[in-house]
Amino acid sequence: MSAFPELDDKVRELKQFDETKVGVRGLVDSGAAKIPRIFICPPESRPEARRTTRNAGSNSPLPQVPTIDLEGSEIPSRRAEIVDEIRQALQTWGFFQMVNHGIPTGVLDNLLRSTREFHEQPKEMRMEFYTRDSTRKVKYYSTGDLYQTKTAQWRDTLSCDFDDTSKIDLESFPKICRKEIGDYLNRLNGLKNLLAELLSEALGLSSNHLASLECFDIQRLLCHYYPPCPEPELTIGIMKHSDPYILTILLQDNIGGLQILHKNQWVDVTPVQGSLLVNAGDLLQLITNDHFKSVEHRVVATRAGPRISAACFIYPRNKNQSKPYGPVKELLSDKNPQIYRETSFLDYIHYFGSKGLDGVKALPHFQLISANE
Ligand code: OGA
Ligand code: NI
Repeated sequence: MSAFPELDDKVRELKQFDETKVGVRGLVDSGAAKIPRIFICPPESRPEARRTTRNAGSNSPLPQVPTIDLEGSEIPSRRAEIVDEIRQALQTWGFFQMVNHGIPTGVLDNLLRSTREFHEQPKEMRMEFYTRDSTRKVKYYSTGDLYQTKTAQWRDTLSCDFDDTSKIDLESFPKICRKEIGDYLNRLNGLKNLLAELLSEALGLSSNHLASLECFDIQRLLCHYYPPCPEPELTIGIMKHSDPYILTILLQDNIGGLQILHKNQWVDVTPVQGSLLVNAGDLLQLITNDHFKSVEHRVVATRAGPRISAACFIYPRNKNQSKPYGPVKELLSDKNPQIYRETSFLDYIHYFGSKGLDGVKALPHFQLISANE
């Protein structure tokens, strides 16, 4: 029998949890040995295949997300190799792990540590940031899509919006992590510009092409906290989804739990200290006309932890969010006809947000011949 004979009961319990304003961390603090039923995922969304499964009888090594060493990207011969590796990675995996990316490990560790400190400080300090008001630049909440997906997930998030990273008002961020967020963003800006060039080159476009589209801005940082979970088989840290944006740069600690759907198998992303993960979002798949893939991923809940991660999203800034974006003309040919119609960032995100993370991709809705209408 369903855990919820009445949907109204479920919405009421989701609301009760939301109104505590202390997140999953608050539940864990109160010593719960069982997870409340609002966190129980439908069986099809549970991480039953927790590890990568080998084909029976196969000794082939487990597939691993590609790691790309960015050292020497200013030397033309090395740069050509890096660009090739990025092209392959984004065509097949939609993801790659970067090492020697230029951001000191200390800056990364400080962001992870201060994120943990934010989520573990006395509840009164975090409650003042708890909100779902989308007009607020700084928000703390548990399960971003709580009322769309109607299943609570085992994570809490501090979300910071920037618009113009050269004019960040650090004072508006929680005191406990504002310096660390500022330091990280300062460093990330240079790396983001390098990635815009390398990805343009990987598409065979001029180096400044993606930057010139005005879609490659650092806009949002989600500082996630996945508390240790007493019943990890029944719930999920973040449900299967693809990121709706242009690009995501993800920092994760050494706990593990992130999985990528690769060739129909869930593949664990092994944490590598000091590395950063990059993945293509739906809008990058749209403007590259499927050259680069926005791949689904999820985070399983674990008894270990807490697990900390910080996802930085790149997409057009406010003044460009109503502008239409479509497949880049230079990438289209008789062999590669246009797949998607033009859409603005706001229209895309509105459609994506109305669905919640329900396992159904948003992108096909934007095909010229819509696949799911
Ligand atoms: C996300 C996401 C993964 C992680 O925020 O979209 O997929 O490891 N996060 O926290
Ligand atoms: Ni994601």
